[in-house]
Amino acid sequence: MSAEIPLPLTASLHPEKNIGVEKVLYTGRISQYPLDENVSISRVFPPWTVGLSPTSRCTRECFFCSHQERNKKGSFLTEEKMDEVVTNLHEQLPPKGVILAGGGEPTFWQGNLSLYINTLSKFCSVGIDTNGTLLGKFIDDGSISKLFYATVPILGHDRESYKKVCGKDQFGIIDANLHKILTIKKETGSKYPHVNLKVAINQRTYRDFIPMLRYAESVGADNVFVRCMNNFEGRTDIDITDDQRQFVYETVMNAPGFEKGYVKVFAENLVRNQNNVLPEDQSTSIRPSHCWTALLMHNMGIKQNGDVFLCVPTTDDQEYSIGNVNRTKLTELWGSPQHLDIIEKLDKRMQSDHCDLSKCRHYRLNIVLDMARRGLIDTVLPEDQFLDRHGPFL
Ligand SMILES: C[S@@+](CC[C@H](N)C(=O)[O-])C[C@H]1O[C@@H](n2cnc3c(N)ncnc32)[C@H](O)[C@@H]1O
Ligand code: SF4
Repeated sequence: MSAEIPLPLTASLHPEKNIGVEKVLYTGRISQYPLDENVSISRVFPPWTVGLSPTSRCTRECFFCSHQERNKKGSFLTEEKMDEVVTNLHEQLPPKGVILAGGGEPTFWQGNLSLYINTLSKFCSVGIDTNGTLLGKFIDDGSISKLFYATVPILGHDRESYKKVCGKDQFGIIDANLHKILTIKKETGSKYPHVNLKVAINQRTYRDFIPMLRYAESVGADNVFVRCMNNFEGRTDIDITDDQRQFVYETVMNAPGFEKGYVKVFAENLVRNQNNVLPEDQSTSIRPSHCWTALLMHNMGIKQNGDVFLCVPTTDDQEYSIGNVNRTKLTELWGSPQHLDIIEKLDKRMQSDHCDLSKCRHYRLNIVLDMARRGLIDTVLPEDQFLDRHGPFL
């Protein structure tokens, strides 16, 4: 059994640090759909990974942020609602992982986030996507060590370049917070949280991303990966242009210090877009047969205003919301006729080619699930690598 596994989910600086797409096989749910059977929803699974965005408020104003309009409205989950959601998840829909996310900035939520990190970490793995400005509070109260991972974007390599992108003079505080966390980990011998630095390439940084990479590497975090920003949530002016992608591609290919034999994979993973900028690269034209992510109920996203969604690229489109936790309990939404309808709608939409694959982190997972269903790859992964492969976070 061998077939070419799609590119990893991350463009990590070092190949062994890449987060592989095979982790999706840990759910084991694809076995519900043998090849000779029609694909229809036969049962309701709990979400494997929940993205929970507590607030639209933020400590900065990144020019690329796809959430600026929402930030202005300032919606947030109340503590009462958070209690209800966390209890519902724990008791009736237990996930393997919860990602505290935004935008806004999850650490800027006015409720007691440390308390919920502690509660959630008792029944699943918890990760956070944070801009890093307010991590000091979580370092001081110890809740930082309850996190499985913290991913912090790198927007520049010094004070000035940072400010140009996020509008605030925050380079120093983020750098200090990152070093504090890494020192605590060293002193306590703890693996957690995994500290990931995400070097963010956008129209203002694409020329500078090599110094940004070097800075990120110098911090000594667990992983450094690179990502091009996208036109998420209705914004249409964020994506770097094809010429800029080509510039990034060539800069990587010619930069000193990359591991030989890996640099091309890294560069391709980084710059691919929906239009497949690299002529020789055919892999983005492979489409999954179904949106397994939706069908197998792998993901649940709860937005700041309480809306519940099934995938990231559709979270600005009310048409794809399965309901709102401020009106209906999560346990009533999940598995409801509306939920099942949206799953079918997403599946049909993907099949008729309307998903922008450059924005969807799930399509590569869907391809792996297709391969597993066809018996083209080994579907059993070592249990003892579940956490190291980031199995809870799909
Ligand atoms: C929306 S933010 C929320 C968490 C936190 N405020 C932060 O900035 O990390 C989550 C991640 O998405 C990234 N992000 C924001 N807008 C984006 C866009 N248009 N395309 C790609 N990533 C984006 C951020 O840089 C960050 O790494
Ligand atoms: S820190 Fe995050 S949420 Fe805040 S403006 Fe920047 S990307 Fe958006």
